[in-house]
Amino acid sequence: AAPGPGGAGAAATGDRILLGHVGSLTGSEATFGDSTDKGIQLAIEEVNAKGGVKGKPLALKTYDNQGKPEESAIAATRLVLQDRVSVLLGEVASTRSLAMAPIADANHVPMITPSSTNPRVTKENGRVRPFVFRVCFIDPFQGTVMAKFARDHLKISRVAVLRDVGNDYSMGLADYFLAKFKELGGTVVDDQSYKAGDQDFKAQLTTIKGKSPEAIYVPGYYTDVALIARQARELGMKQPLMGGDGWDSARLYEIGGKALEGSYFSNHYSPEDPAPRIQDFVKRYKERFGSVPDSLAAQGYDAARIAADAMGRAKDLSGEAIRDALAATRDYPGVTGVISIDADHDAVKPAVVLEIKGSAGHYVATVQPDQPQ
Ligand code: PHE
Repeated sequence: AAPGPGGAGAAATGDRILLGHVGSLTGSEATFGDSTDKGIQLAIEEVNAKGGVKGKPLALKTYDNQGKPEESAIAATRLVLQDRVSVLLGEVASTRSLAMAPIADANHVPMITPSSTNPRVTKENGRVRPFVFRVCFIDPFQGTVMAKFARDHLKISRVAVLRDVGNDYSMGLADYFLAKFKELGGTVVDDQSYKAGDQDFKAQLTTIKGKSPEAIYVPGYYTDVALIARQARELGMKQPLMGGDGWDSARLYEIGGKALEGSYFSNHYSPEDPAPRIQDFVKRYKERFGSVPDSLAAQGYDAARIAADAMGRAKDLSGEAIRDALAATRDYPGVTGVISIDADHDAVKPAVVLEIKGSAGHYVATVQPDQPQ
């Protein structure tokens, strides 16, 4: 069983540095929160085994937000005001990170989202949020990666889109993908939407089917995507689906079965990457938790390691000093790539493209950030 809230730091009492994590440990994106928390725990255990930060052990307090933005704000407030954490980690979903970001800024507590990719998480109305950072790439890049892959590699010229209207990530990523796809000479034959938690997607899929696209871009989260894929196959649609990081969960294949074979998605890393740094991480994570770390676990691990690295370099453990050290992060060797924080508080990193075969995403390509612009 997974250790409960604060599991990783349960042994640490008294003079310790507390990190707070807000994640979806339950609900339809439960694997996002669970994997992220495990990655964070592993990072903290490794840092503590090497003497901690500034001679103090790290401890972790985790709250479940049930996948809800309101609960994310409540949990972030509690971590900041009641638990007095030094750094906030989370969320995965951009909509939920957007609910936490103003709380981090207002209280001068640095927040690092491991995996939220919507640009607004770190920059609202052209202004960089002073205390909010991410250790992942952003969706203008991720959308471009898949649009280029569809045009250049799959030679697709007609696509349809099916996006989640209540999800900032999905809405943004659909727009970035479409803009690049059209710029590259492709045609968008349909642009449909759904709401997270919907069970029946057949009306939208039937409309899309009538426009005969060669592929369908579905930038959503795994539970909805799996149902969409199954229903598309039930309607006799054979086109590959394409998507983004939100597909990354073992549950995608459990729910979707064979419906996703031959589909593609972009992601932050692949556990199949032979790079020694990645294979070492996969081995340590497997030993600790008995499963292969997905992207969320790797991102959670990197977020916590970067928090520790920044606190180690900070002149003291005030929010301002940690913030300055985070902003100065350059060439940090993460398991999800070499991480440098740019002026927008985003990480400039490559993306990978995965093809689904035999109920797993297999590594196809790595795309560097300066390649597709
Ligand atoms: N990038 C997604 C978002 O911003 C979250 C996500 C990241 C989901 C990585 C899965 C894997 O909402």
